[in-house]
Amino acid sequence: MALRITVIGTGYLGATHAAAMAELGFEVLGLDIVPEKVELLSGGRVPMYEPGLEEMLQRHVAGIAGSSGRLRFTTSWEEVAEFGDVHFVCVNTPQKHGEYACDMSYVDSAFDALAPHLTRPALVVGKSTVPVGSAARLADRLAELAPVGAGAELAWNPEFLREGFAVKDTLHPDRIVVGVTSENAEKLLREVYAGPIAEGSPFVVTDFPTAELVKTSANSFLATKISFINAMAEVCEAADGDVVKLAEAIGHDDRIGKKFLRAGIGFGGGCLPKDIRAFMARAGELGADQALTFLREVDSINMRRRGHMVELAREAVGGGSFLGTRVAVLGATFKPDSDDVRDSPALNVAGQIHLQGGQVTVFDPKGMDNARQLFPTLGYADSAREAVRGADVVLHLTEWREFRELDPAELGEVAARRIILDGRNALDSAVWREAGWTYRAMGRPKA
Ligand code: UDX
Repeated sequence: MALRITVIGTGYLGATHAAAMAELGFEVLGLDIVPEKVELLSGGRVPMYEPGLEEMLQRHVAGIAGSSGRLRFTTSWEEVAEFGDVHFVCVNTPQKHGEYACDMSYVDSAFDALAPHLTRPALVVGKSTVPVGSAARLADRLAELAPVGAGAELAWNPEFLREGFAVKDTLHPDRIVVGVTSENAEKLLREVYAGPIAEGSPFVVTDFPTAELVKTSANSFLATKISFINAMAEVCEAADGDVVKLAEAIGHDDRIGKKFLRAGIGFGGGCLPKDIRAFMARAGELGADQALTFLREVDSINMRRRGHMVELAREAVGGGSFLGTRVAVLGATFKPDSDDVRDSPALNVAGQIHLQGGQVTVFDPKGMDNARQLFPTLGYADSAREAVRGADVVLHLTEWREFRELDPAELGEVAARRIILDGRNALDSAVWREAGWTYRAMGRPKA
């Protein structure tokens, strides 16, 4: 009989994973401890913006006309334990308040809630990003709490999905990594991922610590690559070079590659910043802190970008105080095609300027509600044009396609002054300059 799958935690990762498992043909039961989320998902709606996710969900949620009916949601641990052969734990691991370390309380409580109900053999698969060593500890906990004893097994299967591409990354992963301690666990996971494996996704089998480290080291590498190009942007600015050309030129070397070399106001979001910090904290606990001191530099280069953008904006409004100046901010999310504003460089810059007395008006295609919740005191407009109306300077901080397609001539008519600062090196400088704008970007020559 086909495996029955449960997914515990229905945030970005869990909601996508649950719908994708149903898309791959499995019967799936998703669990969340928040009844409102369960209700929303059971109605075929997702609580965030992610291209293609709602459509995929609606193809499978039971009770929706024309759906496969393979996907349901619940708040009941008993039901989940009874239903599943394979349980994926997808709860989040945020940064602890006031510390670098990651907060494992959601993962720990998920295991503590599920394990006592496991009366039949099952594979519990951790997907959350956790400090190395957690899987070994959680395997002991499972053995201690599960009535079925050794019949409840653990595996670790990190997730590499990117926001904005979550559906594609889950259905067609560029690799599947599984940390296992038995052949049975490997066999079950090969069955779960039979579809992507048949399509050619590499399947990498490791021990627990390696599987945990793969995730944090992949994110550390990506963060390092971004901070590397941003460090080059600082040098380019000092030497009057052009970091965009530089990135293009070094990217032709396929050992370096073109991707993740976009200089600008740096990385944010719910993953890269907190993951590199948690990794440093964990290395410290293990006595290997020296190995990761470079990540401190990666973090500080990144945070410096936000301050630098504030300084460029200050220069643009005359070099003194922001008091009495109007600043338009295009973009609030941490990247385009997402409504996520967690640790968003764009909002951070907007907030800093606001706190220094500037009148900031923000527009974002999808992130307005989340931005308002996080920064209720900023001004918000219903369109890019309205945000720019009367502005002394325009800051382009998240590279939505909609902003690349703006007509600079038309915008110039409503702006008080035609100055645009491109924090993502994504606009066509020639077109803006032609329309009479002063265009400045990070790491590029002034004119
Ligand atoms: C990341 C990892 O890519 C993914 O594999 C992991 O599972 C979760 O964390 P995500 O947070 O969705 O995914 O965003 P990503 O696309 O990696 O971008 C992160 C940040 O880096 C964004 O703020 C983006 O604007 C910035 N970025 C990215 C740059 O500043 N320059 C670049 O060249 C690339």
